[in-house]
Amino acid sequence: MIDTFNAVIEGSERLSGLADVDEVVKDLSRLLKRLVKSRWIAVYFFDRERRDFAPARSYGLPSRFVPVFREMPLAPDKIPLLKGMLNKKQHLLLTDPSASDLLPAKLRKLLRNLTLLAVPMIARNQVIGAVFIARTRELPPFSQDEVAVIRDMVSHAALVVSHIQIFDESLDMALDLAGRIDVILTLDEINKAISSSLSREKILETAMEHVERITRCEFVAILQVEGSGLTVTASYAGGLSVPDILQAGARLPRGRFAAWRAYRTGRSTGTDYSGKTNCLSDMDAALFSMGIRSLMAIPLMVRDEVKGVLMLGDTETGAFDRGSTFTIEKIASQMAVALENAQLYEDMRSLFINTISSLANAIDAKSPWTKGHSERVMHIAAHIAKEMGLPETTVERIRLGGLLHDIGKIGVIEAVLEKPAALSEDEFPPLRAHPEKGIAILSPIAQLRDVLPAILHHHERYDGTGYPKGLKGEDIPLAARIVAVADAFDAMVSERPYRKGFDIGEAIGELRRGAGSQFDPKVVDCFADYVKRNMGKELSAVFPEVFSKAAGE
Ligand SMILES: [Fe+2]
Repeated sequence: MIDTFNAVIEGSERLSGLADVDEVVKDLSRLLKRLVKSRWIAVYFFDRERRDFAPARSYGLPSRFVPVFREMPLAPDKIPLLKGMLNKKQHLLLTDPSASDLLPAKLRKLLRNLTLLAVPMIARNQVIGAVFIARTRELPPFSQDEVAVIRDMVSHAALVVSHIQIFDESLDMALDLAGRIDVILTLDEINKAISSSLSREKILETAMEHVERITRCEFVAILQVEGSGLTVTASYAGGLSVPDILQAGARLPRGRFAAWRAYRTGRSTGTDYSGKTNCLSDMDAALFSMGIRSLMAIPLMVRDEVKGVLMLGDTETGAFDRGSTFTIEKIASQMAVALENAQLYEDMRSLFINTISSLANAIDAKSPWTKGHSERVMHIAAHIAKEMGLPETTVERIRLGGLLHDIGKIGVIEAVLEKPAALSEDEFPPLRAHPEKGIAILSPIAQLRDVLPAILHHHERYDGTGYPKGLKGEDIPLAARIVAVADAFDAMVSERPYRKGFDIGEAIGELRRGAGSQFDPKVVDCFADYVKRNMGKELSAVFPEVFSKAAGE
């Protein structure tokens, strides 16, 4: 008896120290086997959703019992013994199972030579499982003392299992919560990216970065609907090399692959490449060759219309479960709206730019000598602004300032604009009013309010002798100082009826000579450096003749 007592104490202590449910049932079944004479032991856990007992562990089970006691769940609806145990939460001892109406016929027959003790595992007043202990009928049935020891051990094990389960559940909940917080933060960051920039590139970059971080997948691609097909807009593949078919700009042929199905059906589609690789579509073969083993394609929907597809790939099979798909679908729907807004913004912006460009062209077209002047000034001014590291919104303002700087000339008659003599704008009184006239024309347009200073002050001089206000140095708005340099450069390199155009070296020399008097020296330096570094690159598209001449020298 003392031995049994010690074994119970020792066993209880060991069970309490375990942190894994499997270990607990393994230890419990071994312990019971040692404490009481038994033929075999089977432990079950109650599945609350399915309302049946699922086999967890058995010990000493002869092979003919295996199909029933190790592989099949036991349903209380079909076995009155289990139903009674669930309801009464008490153990049941069957000394002659073959005659018990608590068992179905099949079990009565199977257990006919055994004594069976069924003990519920109870924690928090709930049945969480059951332990069955069988003893051959050649031995006397379980004594009251033995039943008491078994019940103690089972209830102790149930408590330990329950604690482990609570701990695991809390851990799962914490991880789930952390995941949800991550999703909310991600959606918020995408939101911020959208509100701080309406650039498609920025939205795509932010979304891809976060999708990759949340899913930990190795491949992300965004496809957009163009015409009746799909075009890769952006792709990210960490260390994997992306095949041509998935590079940004690639147009995807229609076919039997996940992204196309997501596009056609408007539903998320997953694929696993496990084994069957001999009859893959070109797209699937390309993904397989780069190491992708599971793929998820999620449609980007706006108002029930598929605008694109988000493709995620992982080098492991089965990487995308229902939980991660739900999260990605949330991000995808946000991305879809953001991209749609960016598209609308881009459309409106290009409509706006086209309208004001045609206005500027109307001025330039009044004289063959100034044709294209405004657009060239726009490009040069924007290049200088970028070179000076100014923010995107400022660059945009300066670009428009360059385009519209001479818009006030619209009120000046053609004869004046075509003046053949070498009179500059500064020397000809009717023309000196064009900055102010420009402001008068454009000030009703709210979207151009920030662009007006560049237009009003582009004839100010750095030494304060310019017009219309005679501003000096840094009192002249930076946008106007930049447009002034761009305007002068274009005027210098353009052919005029009364003189040949300067080459680039001469024009830069002239700008340098005017630095500090007419021009802001910092802007001139910046432009000169830029031209020197990028000779024949971006600006050669703006001044093809001037730059090709320079490159040939
Ligand atoms: Fe001007």
